[in-house]
Amino acid sequence: MTATVITGLLPILVFFWPAPPKGQKKGPINIALQTPINQLQDGDAVKFDAPRNPNSAFIMADGGGDNAPGELAFGGFVVKNQGKVSVFAINCSHLGCSVALNKDAKTFDCPCHGSRFHLDGTVLQGPAPVPLSHLAWKQGANPGDIEVEGIVLGF
Ligand code: FES
Repeated sequence: MTATVITGLLPILVFFWPAPPKGQKKGPINIALQTPINQLQDGDAVKFDAPRNPNSAFIMADGGGDNAPGELAFGGFVVKNQGKVSVFAINCSHLGCSVALNKDAKTFDCPCHGSRFHLDGTVLQGPAPVPLSHLAWKQGANPGDIEVEGIVLGF
């Protein structure tokens, strides 16, 4: 009887709580920034990419629209805006295209459908429905490094 129940329930439990794929590991990913945070001028942003060896991604801490907490991002921006440092995923909240820094306008612009974001991540112009997603981060051991929450994908 017990064996029958276990045999019957196991496939269901595995469906609801799948084991993480082999080789995948969540944790902080160290990123060496092209411009250290303490050298960023107010209104500046520096882009960074997820490491490729091993293949990794960042995990969105919040979000809406096409972004959701837990979704993956393969790049981001560190922004200094009015003295506050923020780290955003690169994904547009409309349909996920990569936004780019518009240095002159001091905005993040999406090349796909024209959405624009203020440097604090809020929407300046749609169709993006909600702000850019934050990435959880902290200062790294070296002044030019940050550690961003992410996952080693292992493929
Ligand atoms: S994906 Fe950015 S505006 Fe559509």
